[in-house]
Amino acid sequence: MTYAVVWASRGGNTEQVGEAIVQALAKTNGEPVFAGSVPAAGSAEEEALRSAGTVFAGSWTDKGDCDPALAALLAKLDGKRVFLFGTAGFGGDPSYFTRILDNFKTHLPENARLVGGAMCQGKMGAGVRKRYEAMLAEHPDDARAQAMIANFDAALAHPTADDLARIAAAAREALA
Ligand SMILES: Cc1cc2nc3c(=O)[nH]c(=O)nc-3n(C[C@H](O)[C@H](O)[C@H](O)COP(=O)(O)O)c2cc1C
Repeated sequence: MTYAVVWASRGGNTEQVGEAIVQALAKTNGEPVFAGSVPAAGSAEEEALRSAGTVFAGSWTDKGDCDPALAALLAKLDGKRVFLFGTAGFGGDPSYFTRILDNFKTHLPENARLVGGAMCQGKMGAGVRKRYEAMLAEHPDDARAQAMIANFDAALAHPTADDLARIAAAAREALA
């Protein structure tokens, strides 16, 4: 049971999830062949990753989809068992996460086998809140801006220990 854990993370949220998966899988009988950020195309690291039977692949959410570097890697996972994970700025609605993972999935070749997936919310940069604050300053009754600020503040705690434990457990189950 060889496996790889790979992620695209700009701010560290998705990396945290990836590291939690790495730690959880280290307690299994599986054999890790790669763990880390998306390797350069054609590199020895990418070759090692592509020797894995199961690939745990994660990304931050970039306009509803995964990072383009991860998308390019997913497209090369012919015949692999694949577990998808990710983080997104918006949370609270499980169907939102499902939609995002469905978008990630579109990058996989037809003969890759999806063996699971999990996501959680992830904190956003301070500049985002400033933009919402400016919207609210201009239109103090703007319910959408108020909701965006509430979501931003809720995201600050994520990934939580519970998020990490839930996703790591799902990943372990997928390797079994
Ligand atoms: C350019 C950009 C686009 C984003 N697009 C989305 C989006 O479409 N949906 C969403 O829920 N979050 C979006 N986010 C928020 C990030 O996906 C979220 O904060 C994520 O946890 C960042 O993960 P990272 O720390 O691993 O980079 C976006 C962030 C940036 C910077």
